[in-house]
Amino acid sequence: MTDVTTEPAAPTTFRVPTDQATVRANDRQHVFHSWSAQGAITPLPIARAQGSRFWDYDGKDYLDFSSGLVHANIGYGHPKLVAAVQEQAGRMATIAPGYAVDVRSEAARLIASKAPDGLEMVFFTNGGAEATENAIRMARLHTGRHKVFAAYRSYHGATAGALTMTGDPRRIPSEPGLPGIIHFWGPYPYRSAFHSTSPEQETERALGHLRDMIMVEGPAAVAAIILETVVGTNGVLVPPPGYLAGVRAICDEFGIVMIADEVMAGFARCGEWFAIQHWGVTPDLITFAKGVNSGYVPIGGVIISEAIAATFRDRVYPGGLTYSGHPLACASAVASIQIFEEEGIVEHARMLGTDVIGPALTELAQRHPSIGDVRGLGAMWAVELVRNRETREPLVPYNATGAAAAPMTEFAAACKARGLWPFVHFNRTHVVPPCTTSVEEVREGLAILDEALTVADGYVTTD
Ligand SMILES: Cc1ncc(COP(=O)(O)O)c(C=O)c1O
Repeated sequence: MTDVTTEPAAPTTFRVPTDQATVRANDRQHVFHSWSAQGAITPLPIARAQGSRFWDYDGKDYLDFSSGLVHANIGYGHPKLVAAVQEQAGRMATIAPGYAVDVRSEAARLIASKAPDGLEMVFFTNGGAEATENAIRMARLHTGRHKVFAAYRSYHGATAGALTMTGDPRRIPSEPGLPGIIHFWGPYPYRSAFHSTSPEQETERALGHLRDMIMVEGPAAVAAIILETVVGTNGVLVPPPGYLAGVRAICDEFGIVMIADEVMAGFARCGEWFAIQHWGVTPDLITFAKGVNSGYVPIGGVIISEAIAATFRDRVYPGGLTYSGHPLACASAVASIQIFEEEGIVEHARMLGTDVIGPALTELAQRHPSIGDVRGLGAMWAVELVRNRETREPLVPYNATGAAAAPMTEFAAACKARGLWPFVHFNRTHVVPPCTTSVEEVREGLAILDEALTVADGYVTTD
């Protein structure tokens, strides 16, 4: 436990009650939380967050192995990033999107400079969902076609179109959604939809499946294929060799726009500026948010190829947002990219994957019978938990809730009791700390994971 005041410092220019009881009471009475039955939750009041940790009001600290919602790539309270937001608030706190503004121009230039060559323009949004919405709007208008292919194992955001593209069960309560979205199976060697026995076979069969689906849907009707370069929340599914190049080839063959959703995978998370740079593939559109400024102010966007930008040179782009390219958000994106460069954060995340997290998880898998698979890269890893390694029966069923999810709930509680905040989804825990986390802190978190995994081991059956 680190020394901490149990209440955040009170601001001097506005009034906010900072005591735990009032924070909790107002939250319960007035804050309507995401993805939750409001009566079933007890949000933890947080007093402070710094680096890779946050503190509750009792002074207990948690090492954050979830980076919030896998967004705080730079960690919490980075002094230079905080200063950038404060300075920009003094320079120009807000301005409509139609003007040319220094921080907006520079943010767009810097973001494009990190993307593959040929993607030079940026449309700014307030977050990831609006980025994927606008990406498919651009693709549809550019191609004059309406169908969009998206993976079943995916999350693309919670607005109407983004949720329809989303393959995971969060889509279902909002159906029927946007017409023309078609889901397909992407590669997942550990639980292959194609009964593959090797990553190479998985690539070949997954591409064959995608091609067949495009054939029967009518290639001339397909505007875009959107995929998470590395599938995030739905499993840290790293594409097997050749898969992304194969998708690119299919898109080229049929005149389909390839959209790489890098909202989670981008900005150092996978040890590159954009995860797709691991495979040397250039998509037509890249969506980003989260790690671009670690959420210090909401921002997202679409990076646009020259060909698609050209479509809207003489023709109006029919989309916009009041806060597109918000100065506070753009200033924080500029500062964040500069800090990433100064501190070597992309390289640090890559090293964490190759030298620390990857080897440590492989070692844990040898000792914990509940670990069925370990996969990832950079600061983005999944540990897939099973009841039986032979049958690969998941520790809890797909989309389990309540009692059926108890083994994962108990595992998460064991982590939290020891001061580690885990990322838990279905039968997996993801190791997704801030990309700035020190090697010592990562090892500290992995040691806690090691202890908590004995809870999962207790559910293992040998039949
Ligand atoms: C891959 C991906 N795309 C889109 C989104 C949606 O982003 P936002 O929550 O900022 O709308 C997310 C959020 O988790 C994501 O992981």
